[in-house]
Amino acid sequence: MTGQLEGKVALVTGAGRGQGRAEAIALAQDGASVVCLDVGDTRIDSIDYELSSEADLHDTVALAQKTGGAAVAVVGDVRSQADLDGAVATALAEFGGLDIVVANAGIWGLANLWEITEEQWADTQDVVLAGVWRTVKAAVPHLIAQRSGSIVVTSSVNGVEGGTRFAHYTAAKHGVLGLMRSAAQELAPHNVRVNAVLPGFMDTRMNMWQGAYDMMAGRPGGTPEDRVASAYHWSALAGRGALPADAVSDAVRWLVSDGAKHVTGVALPVDGGHLVLPGFNTDPQHESD
Ligand SMILES: NC(=O)c1ccc[n+]([C@@H]2O[C@H](COP(=O)([O-])OP(=O)(O)OC[C@H]3O[C@@H](n4cnc5c(N)ncnc54)[C@H](O)[C@@H]3O)[C@@H](O)[C@H]2O)c1
Repeated sequence: MTGQLEGKVALVTGAGRGQGRAEAIALAQDGASVVCLDVGDTRIDSIDYELSSEADLHDTVALAQKTGGAAVAVVGDVRSQADLDGAVATALAEFGGLDIVVANAGIWGLANLWEITEEQWADTQDVVLAGVWRTVKAAVPHLIAQRSGSIVVTSSVNGVEGGTRFAHYTAAKHGVLGLMRSAAQELAPHNVRVNAVLPGFMDTRMNMWQGAYDMMAGRPGGTPEDRVASAYHWSALAGRGALPADAVSDAVRWLVSDGAKHVTGVALPVDGGHLVLPGFNTDPQHESD
């Protein structure tokens, strides 16, 4: 434990695995008590890969506790304001406060823009964009009352650039940045900071499924090896493929710490330099018509 968050209480959404798990562990390691929220065994039909399970969430709690910090699990869905209000109530009841909020939960799916279904569009906006708004909404009255707090929302490099075959996700992640900037402005007079992290190509389950392998291979029948190879084209920094989840949790632990006490309204890429690349054509044509 570094102790820099000693006495603080944090809420992390999407904590069952991936970046959310890494964030819960990092904050616990730094001394915070952490409320870890994830969907449990709920499924979202429009998503083609499994979300994390309730067992995963309990594993996160055990890993966070192993660092010496305190942690509890809350099964909840960021599509429900009542679930998020309940998570904040748990923080207050179990740990006596709330200081840090990491709105990380998200889903990703693939479809041509003109073929995205109403259900895919609605689910993605509901989780990725409205889920962040609901998380912030649940926490903010308490943070305003105590005149302190730090919120980090998870956007994506797709919060500032387009993407082929996931316009619903890209639109939602752009929205997360608009929400973050408005919240930073509105909450600054209350001494509450709001920042965003923009992960690049992460080594998490979100992009480990057949549709993702096909997209990364540029053809049907893509493989996990295609995914690994493709990640190296995504980063600019030497030797970076898919980035480990703790690349983002290291940024989060700084953003919520006193080291960043004068920082608000920032959109921080953690992307191996992806956004400095000039980009490349994912669908090159050899003749124009
Ligand atoms: N994986 C990437 O390459 C990548 C890149 C940029 C941004 N991101 C973003 O990072 C965040 C974390 O994703 P990850 O990479 O750890 O993927 P992940 O799929 O491993 O983790 C996402 C977590 O969110 C949870 N979740 C999904 N819907 C939920 C809901 N309705 N309520 C509560 N929890 C829910 C899932 O169960 C899962 O545990 C997401 O917001 C994602 O969009 C990921």
